[in-house]
Amino acid sequence: MSAVDRTGCCYVKILITGGSNGQLYSELLRTCPAEFTVVDKGPERFDITDAKAVNALVSANRPDCIINAAAYTAVDKAEEDQRSAFAVNDEAVGYLLEAAATVEAHLVHISTDFVFGSAHKGGLISPLLPDAPTDPVSVYGKSKLAGEQRLIEHYAQDSLIVRTAWVYSSFGNNFVKTMLRLMKERDEIGVIADQIGSPTWARGLASAIWSASNKRSTGIMHWTGAGIASWYDFAHAIMEEGLATGLLDEPIRINPLRTDQYPTPAARPSYSVLETSVTRADLELPAIHWRDELRNMLRELS
Ligand SMILES: NC(=O)c1ccc[n+]([C@@H]2O[C@H](COP(=O)([O-])OP(=O)(O)OC[C@H]3O[C@@H](n4cnc5c(N)ncnc54)[C@H](OP(=O)(O)O)[C@@H]3O)[C@@H](O)[C@H]2O)c1
Repeated sequence: MSAVDRTGCCYVKILITGGSNGQLYSELLRTCPAEFTVVDKGPERFDITDAKAVNALVSANRPDCIINAAAYTAVDKAEEDQRSAFAVNDEAVGYLLEAAATVEAHLVHISTDFVFGSAHKGGLISPLLPDAPTDPVSVYGKSKLAGEQRLIEHYAQDSLIVRTAWVYSSFGNNFVKTMLRLMKERDEIGVIADQIGSPTWARGLASAIWSASNKRSTGIMHWTGAGIASWYDFAHAIMEEGLATGLLDEPIRINPLRTDQYPTPAARPSYSVLETSVTRADLELPAIHWRDELRNMLRELS
């Protein structure tokens, strides 16, 4: 149910979880449509692992919709800190859905391509549909999948899972900003060339989430930038666009690496391209190639 303001205008009251350093959280705040009003959570970051606090905030504000943009996203750290990853990405989803149910709020939960794993290794590949079998290969992926399952089991009737991948933004920390820094500091870098996905500007993701919230969509949706790339391709594009926008002065050498040449604590999917055409048709949003989105983000950054 939507609320009415003093001018008699109808608006949807929305609670967004996450901190001001969060990529998606910041883009959602920046792009909030006029028909939505965001609940003021106060100056402190509101901890979604605190069940009582979640319940109190939701009961006091009675939002029409809750967007869960908060997550434990430190993929490598999660391998050694399983408890924290599951507390935020799984258990807290339970607190949010219980609170949402008490006020009949729509719950939009953001998830990840890392719920997929090795299924495509060495086989025929095609973009992953929302109902493709999941097989996470990291603690982070497992914790995010557990959160999804909790939602499907207990609040499927009024919740939406939006899976996305390879997110970057001018806010927070991400691959684009790390590459720009390294490209200023070094003459040569190595970047993994055998993991394939779709880079996604958090701005485009935020638009998709606003559209889906407006429609009160349910189920699982996939959203990424259009097109695919390896991390190596992505890094190369960052360099070219960085030079074009004046963020970088000189090109450097980028060497393609195999995954086994750059070991990390957490395993990553070798192929996690998400099929997004159904979502785009549903939300009536155009396909924007990831490279065009990258150019727009870098122009803004410059
Ligand atoms: N980044 C990616 O490449 C990527 C890829 C696929 C899917 N996703 C998903 O997309 C969503 C948004 O990710 P993002 O890129 O915006 O992540 P992000 O930049 O790391 O932001 C996550 C936010 O969650 C906050 N947070 C962590 N624990 C919290 C807690 N207990 N209570 C409240 N807030 C908490 C963090 O605050 P603190 O920093 O203060 O802890 C941070 O502001 C997540 O669901 C993520 O799993 C991201």
